[in-house]
Amino acid sequence: MNRLLLKRVWLGFLCASTLLLAGEQFSMSQADKKMYEELKENNPADMNVEEGMELFEELGEEGALAKFLDVNQTQLPSYIAGFPRYIAKMGNVVGLDQVLQAMQVEQGKAKDALSSESMFSMLAYVKSFANDEAINIDIKANKEMEASYALGEKLYSQARGYRGLSCNSCHALAGSILRTQTLPELGEQNTGGTWPAYRMTLSSLVTLQERSRTCMRDAGQAPLPLGSKEMVALEVYISNLAKNNKHAVEVPGLKR
Ligand code: HEC
Repeated sequence: MNRLLLKRVWLGFLCASTLLLAGEQFSMSQADKKMYEELKENNPADMNVEEGMELFEELGEEGALAKFLDVNQTQLPSYIAGFPRYIAKMGNVVGLDQVLQAMQVEQGKAKDALSSESMFSMLAYVKSFANDEAINIDIKANKEMEASYALGEKLYSQARGYRGLSCNSCHALAGSILRTQTLPELGEQNTGGTWPAYRMTLSSLVTLQERSRTCMRDAGQAPLPLGSKEMVALEVYISNLAKNNKHAVEVPGLKR
């Protein structure tokens, strides 16, 4: 059997075997659903956001961020709703967390690792400035954004790892069920606008990039490093899917 066919059969088996039993209601157990409803009223990640606020104060608050990004403070929310962006002085298309790191460096402070809880919290706080703003990432803004989008699109549909799976192998099958979990179509469900989010299964705040790394591991792929060109490109691609679906920023999200 060729590799592609094998992959189809493997996925088909996993989906079919659970689809028989499963409707939408099986995507979470009843207990999980109950917890989800409760936590929606009172997202535990609000505590991270508060912690992020305190950490961000040390960097000089909104004024300092607006200055670093060279935008008017009143434009900051809508500007944040357009990340990842090409930031000329950083010479790269970057996530908002990398901007926070660059500010730390510029101020002579130790930079928080992209994987640190403090950075996740700060990112959630700063991204929440953009809540209710329409996602407005511009993949045509410049050649760097064009290249990043093209790379993200390629990586999204490129098979990687020993199982021969791409992101698209699963995430294009929106609405079907894999081992009791509904496979999300990432544009439709506003993945680009709802992370950082609280993950109930981990009882912690997680970023979009970190969540993607979990999928890479599950799919038998070596996880891409946080903040790498490739990982940022995937975030660009996923953010653009959310934009195409006319979503707004809603953080912190609440996820299974
Ligand atoms: C083997 C199937 C599979 C593959 C391959 C896969 N995913 Fe997933 N992914 C899932 C499932 C299932 C969920 C939802 C799980 C849940 O409900 O918690 C998910 C959820 C996600 C989420 C969270 C969506 C949200 O808004 O809650 C992101 C982000 C994500 N995947 C990114 C990726 C990326 C990027 C890739 C490719 C590198 C990828 N996934 C490959 C099965 C897969």
